[in-house]
Amino acid sequence: MSDDLLNLTYLFAAVLFILGLKGLTHPRTAVRGNILGAVAMLLATVATLSTAGLKYEFILVGLAIGTVVGLVFALKIQMTDMPQLVALFNGFGGGASVLVAGALLLTLKSAEATVEGLIATAASGLIGAVTFSGSLIAFAKLQELKFVRDLRFPGQQAINAGLSLACLLLGFWLVSAPETAVTAYWLIVVAALALGVFLVISIGGADMPVVIALLNSYSGLAAAATGFVIQNTVLIIAGSLVGASGIILTKIMCVAMNRSLVNVLFGTMGQTGGGMALSSDEVYSTVKSTSADEVAMLLDVASRVVIVPGYGMAVAQAQHAVSDLYDELIKRGITCEFGIHPVAGRMPGHMNVLLAEADIPYEALKEMDDINRELERVDVTIVLGANDVVNPLARTDPGSPIAGMPIIDVDKSRTVVIIKRSLSPGFAQIPNPLFAAENALMLFGDGRAATVDILKALQES
Ligand code: TAP
Repeated sequence: MSDDLLNLTYLFAAVLFILGLKGLTHPRTAVRGNILGAVAMLLATVATLSTAGLKYEFILVGLAIGTVVGLVFALKIQMTDMPQLVALFNGFGGGASVLVAGALLLTLKSAEATVEGLIATAASGLIGAVTFSGSLIAFAKLQELKFVRDLRFPGQQAINAGLSLACLLLGFWLVSAPETAVTAYWLIVVAALALGVFLVISIGGADMPVVIALLNSYSGLAAAATGFVIQNTVLIIAGSLVGASGIILTKIMCVAMNRSLVNVLFGTMGQTGGGMALSSDEVYSTVKSTSADEVAMLLDVASRVVIVPGYGMAVAQAQHAVSDLYDELIKRGITCEFGIHPVAGRMPGHMNVLLAEADIPYEALKEMDDINRELERVDVTIVLGANDVVNPLARTDPGSPIAGMPIIDVDKSRTVVIIKRSLSPGFAQIPNPLFAAENALMLFGDGRAATVDILKALQES
């Protein structure tokens, strides 16, 4: 392929990437956006592989290994574990950037090295390694593995500052002494791997969404830096788009969580202290439980109902049962809407994706601020497998790990029914006084089974 044709194909792929991203901004156009992005990636890959002088045997071995790993993951992964897979893929992106930039450095003769190329190489190693190790820790946290749960120790910020400084100094060494660049590069990678672990390991409570968006952005920035190293235009463009959209998502998550981006960038999130340390027994002394029949009776006389889904809806795969309940309520002339918290579930847009899969109309999905304005006039709110995103401690306990996070104010509606299997905590591992509120009723059980039971009881009433 001639250089002109190659560049033209890259330009076309870049335009498709941008149109694809635009499509992803709305559920209605998201599938088309995804297809456009995939076509762009195919074009960019084929064009790159047509470049003269490549050693195809290695590329084919790499493709085969990547395809097998990808296929096994995609076929084996449960829908509820999708966020963990996304975290892993972010990490793999960072790791790939580290290896590509490192491999090129091995073949580089110091006389041929340019300052720009060496700066890009240092950036690839630094950002790629932070992304790799940080994403592995994020994966372990999403998997709720106990050994990475909110690990904090004195001097953590000093260690982060020390490691960041070490990375900068090593980067300076790499750029100023090309003959020892390989040593400096791998030392940067080691320091950055440690930095990634320390930055993410202390982040707890409900702050993980911000970290995941940020790591996603870092994986793009690492790819863009590697694009400069190997002088591949489409990698620079695609990496920059991922980096920029990841930063925008990070900003959206910061607003949703009421956290500042500066805190995120300097890794000081989740340092809010111990909270009121309420015991579950104290909080849950006045919990009232209910039955599906009783909830059906409440719905039967309601004129306005709101459903607030959370991670438990994803675990129970209750979205289709919820869709049937929604249809029944609408058929009876009852207004039914969904209150969607921006960080409900375990990945951005998690609830929207599940509800769209069950054909619930987009118009029925209301964002947190919109639904909060209405909740005082709502007869029954059903909280389906949500916990942290409806926890009033965020408003009342400044020491809580979710302090200041905006929540869906379900306690303001006339009656709140909470469907979950037990009184166990959500992702932030704190009790939830909502369950014992005067207007709250707990319906204990699996989210799907309970929703089906309510629907049956409603149809029989
Ligand atoms: P959570 O606070 O995690 O609560 C989910 C609740 O679902 C649990 O208390 C659990 O209680 C219940 N549950 C689990 N399986 C269930 C089933 N089969 N049927 C019924 N209920 C079930 O969820 P949330 O309110 O959606 O909040 C999300 C949390 O995850 C936030 O803290 C957020 O910061 C964090 N997070 C979000 C993201 C993104 S980007 N969205 C990423 C990482 C972390 P039982 O065990 O008693 O049933």
